[in-house]
Amino acid sequence: MSRLATSESTGVSLSAREFLRRATHAEHVRLNQHPLLSGITRPGYPVGRYANVLVAYYHFYRVFESAIDESLTRLKHDFSYEDRRKLPWLAEDLDKLGIDPDSAAWTSSSRLAVPDALNASQVFGVLYTIEGSSLGGKVIAAHLAANLGLSASNGARFFTGYGEAVGTCWQTFAVRLESQLADSATRAQAGNAARLTFCTMEQVLDEQANHRPG
Ligand code: HEM
Repeated sequence: MSRLATSESTGVSLSAREFLRRATHAEHVRLNQHPLLSGITRPGYPVGRYANVLVAYYHFYRVFESAIDESLTRLKHDFSYEDRRKLPWLAEDLDKLGIDPDSAAWTSSSRLAVPDALNASQVFGVLYTIEGSSLGGKVIAAHLAANLGLSASNGARFFTGYGEAVGTCWQTFAVRLESQLADSATRAQAGNAARLTFCTMEQVLDEQANHRPG
């Protein structure tokens, strides 16, 4: 095996971001094609389906943001997630749609597969997936405005995300990602955590795809 092939297979010839992008490419494509998400950028996408997406995301972020908080605190890590918190944005959007995601009619019944105590590499794998999705969120927000008339103050706070600051927020995170995942062992752990994060998102979307409030 050539030296190049060896370093590519361990991932250290790539940036950590590129390593994670490749590691999760198949999962990202699968999510883009999910029945609840596939039409979200097209005219005619029903607002009821959008509500299912928000409820799925709400249950996902409730569990994952709490795992991030617990891990960063336990690890005494100096990365601050506070200004990036997304659950309040989802709660705000659902409130605008008149939906209580914690009511019996909407509560998620599944047990989400989140590792109990994430190590620092795993936390950054989870964060890569969550923060990276804000890049796509910007594209989705523009379509929600054009097709459903939704704005940051009217049901699309989550997808609007960091708004104009999205590039800066991503860059700040990306610098941290590179220093945190500097070798093949940490990248492999982050890659597994990132894939698990994508798969859990798919799980909550699957559940909502079959859900009608009762
Ligand atoms: C229909 C739904 C989705 C669409 C249309 C979409 C679209 C996009 C687009 C256009 C980008 C690239 C943005 C850029 O480079 O400026 C992106 C990046 C990304 N998205 Fe999505 N996305 C969707 C759903 C998701 C979901 C549900 C997740 C995970 C929870 C996710 C995770 C990511 C990640 C991690 C990146 C960064 C990839 C990189 O490293 O460049 N996406 N998405």
